Amino acid sequence: MSDRVLYLFICGAGPASRIVEMVTSAQSEGWSVYCIATPAAIEYFVDIQELENATGHQVRTAYRKPGDESLPRPDGVVVAPATYNTINKWAAGISDTYALNQLAELTGLGVKIVVLPFVNRALAANRVFVRSVEELRQAGIRVLFGPGEFEPHPPRTGGEILDIYPWSLALDALN
Ligand SMILES: Cc1cc2nc3c(=O)[nH]c(=O)nc-3n(C[C@H](O)[C@H](O)[C@H](O)COP(=O)(O)O)c2cc1C
Repeated sequence: MSDRVLYLFICGAGPASRIVEMVTSAQSEGWSVYCIATPAAIEYFVDIQELENATGHQVRTAYRKPGDESLPRPDGVVVAPATYNTINKWAAGISDTYALNQLAELTGLGVKIVVLPFVNRALAANRVFVRSVEELRQAGIRVLFGPGEFEPHPPRTGGEILDIYPWSLALDALN
C-alpha cells in the first residue's frame, strides 16, 4: 500500500526548529510528508534544505511557480507548531499567506485537520484566542489545546519546553 499524504503546515514558533523530528515520526507511521511553511517559520526557524532532504519534497511557501512540484491530495493535515497569529487569522477568515489560503480551502473541503498550538499563557489567555479555537472547533477542526493536549507555558519559557512538545498527539489524532 502506498503512503498516505500528510500536509504539514509550519508556523513561526520555537518547535519549528525541530520540525524534522515530526517529519521522521510521521514517515515511520506511513505518511509521505509535504511541508507548507509560513514566511515567519522560514525566516526564523526552519532550515529549508534540511527539511527538503528529510521529506524528499519541496517546501512550499508560496503559490506554485512553473517547474515547482505539484502537491498530491492530502489524506490528513497537521498544523504544528500553530501560532497565535495563524490561529487567529485562520479563524477570522484572513488569507494573506499561502499557508492560510490553503488552510481556508482545506477547511472548506472538509479534509481532516489537526492543530497543535504553541502559545504561552499570556497569548492563550486572550479572549480572541479562546474565540478562535472555538471557531475552528465549530468548523470541525481538531485543536489539541487543553489538559492532556497542548498546555501553554509561562511567557519567555518556550525555549525550555521544546523537548516535550507533544508532536505525537497530532499524529495520533489523525489516526
Ligand atoms: C524567536 C521567536 C519566537 C516566537 N515564538 C512564538 C510562539 O511561541 N508562539 C507564537 O504564537 N508566536 C511566536 N512568535 C511570533 C510569531 O513568529 C509571529 O507572530 C509571526 O507573525 C507568526 O507568523 P505565522 O503565524 O505566519 O507563522 C515568535 C517569534 C520569534 C521571532
